[in-house]
Amino acid sequence: MIDMPIAKSKMKQSSILHKLRLLIVLTFALMVGLLLVPELAAQQRLLKLAIPLGLPADTWSYYVPRTNPMTEAKIELGRKLFFDARLSADGNVSCASCHDPKLAFGDAKPVAEGISGKLGSRNSPSLLNAMFYPNQFWDGRAEGLEDQAIQPLTNPIEMGNASYDQVVARLKTLPEYRAEFLSVFGGEVTIARVGQAISAYERTLVSGDSPFDRFNAGDQSAMSDAAKRGLTVFRGRGRCSRCHSFSEALPFFTDFQYHNTGVAMNDPRYDKLSRIAFDAVDTEQAKDVIDRLAQQPGGEELGRVRFSYVVFDIGAFRTPTLRNIALTAPYFHDGSARTLADVVKFYNEGGKMNVAREWDLAPLALTDQEQRDLVAFLESLTGKLPESVVSQNR
Ligand code: HEC
Ligand code: HEC
Repeated sequence: MIDMPIAKSKMKQSSILHKLRLLIVLTFALMVGLLLVPELAAQQRLLKLAIPLGLPADTWSYYVPRTNPMTEAKIELGRKLFFDARLSADGNVSCASCHDPKLAFGDAKPVAEGISGKLGSRNSPSLLNAMFYPNQFWDGRAEGLEDQAIQPLTNPIEMGNASYDQVVARLKTLPEYRAEFLSVFGGEVTIARVGQAISAYERTLVSGDSPFDRFNAGDQSAMSDAAKRGLTVFRGRGRCSRCHSFSEALPFFTDFQYHNTGVAMNDPRYDKLSRIAFDAVDTEQAKDVIDRLAQQPGGEELGRVRFSYVVFDIGAFRTPTLRNIALTAPYFHDGSARTLADVVKFYNEGGKMNVAREWDLAPLALTDQEQRDLVAFLESLTGKLPESVVSQNR
């Protein structure tokens, strides 16, 4: 009983002390906060990308998702991740191993070579202007860049990690990444944020201002006579623009669709698999049969049908953009065409016959001159790299 007043006064004292301490902490936090404001603003500054001649700025903006705005700090984080081999299981493979800025973000190999020299089955596509594809990969199996960007991490023949958790755990042990994720995203490393940062970087990889773009903008001297004749063949007798289509809003020389030109016939296992798939589509067993075929050796050559189950997509692959095509040999999803002249020869022969070949591909009977002109036209589609990439390449 006697102790009570003392205890009360102690309590009062300690509550005053407590409030004082809180005040000091708050004042301190406010001061630090004020100091950080300019830096925070810098972290959240949106990139103003210079869109090159020939590419529509509207289309570019359209392809930047509202959920993943392009802040400068995020792009820088994405660039670091893109070039960091510590993202792979053995520390030797980065995204740039197969998408090398010095090779127009391809690798100049027929098919990709991943972890421990393991060979994939597909040609590494250039990432220049890849952001404009509504679906990613030769068969369009990824929805968008965010979805695509994390898949190589756990691909056993690309970067070889056992799981996304493994990648995230490794990044969390690296203090520089912990700090940077916190400042860019206001939180810890997650696999979705890894995908967002890399995608933001990839959306800076736009390329235009090619001789064709300058010609198209009115400079008659920008393209050689051979290239101009090639353009006529491209649109006319070559019938290339039927699939490699061009419009002001989508000037990428692709219809973003999937076609069977017969490239898959290069794989001797494809013919049998495609015939079984052909008999199965439009039946109730279609999905079961095609899922099973897809797992067999050579099953990847079935292409788009593995995801769509429709007859036209058997052996069908996405029409690639032709911008910068002269920089990204060898060609086709399997890297089977060594040069552009080989590609033109392939079309001149009508592609390769198979059960689901596009119905109106036919031998073109182009003269040698027309074929050379077509190649000259394709070469006129080589654009400029973004300035940020040029300065890094130096
Ligand atoms: C071992 C080589 C290799 C590595 C490493 C690699 N890629 Fe790829 N990349 C490929 C190949 C091969 C394809 C095409 C695969 C397919 O279509 O099935 C591809 C496709 C892509 C595409 C789709 C482009 C298009 O035209 O559809 C994007 C985007 C991409 N990679 C980004 C990345 C990113 C980001 C990383 C790192 C996280 C990465 N890649 C790591 C080889 C690689
Ligand atoms: C029926 C649609 C279609 C037509 C017509 C067509 N293409 Fe293609 N093109 C494609 C598809 C689909 C691919 C990818 C094929 C594959 O790898 O399996 C492709 C690939 C290419 C490639 C290789 C691209 C790369 O990144 O590897 C070039 C070059 C090319 N076509 C040029 C032409 C030219 C030149 C013509 C006209 C002579 C033409 N195409 C006609 C659909 C077509």
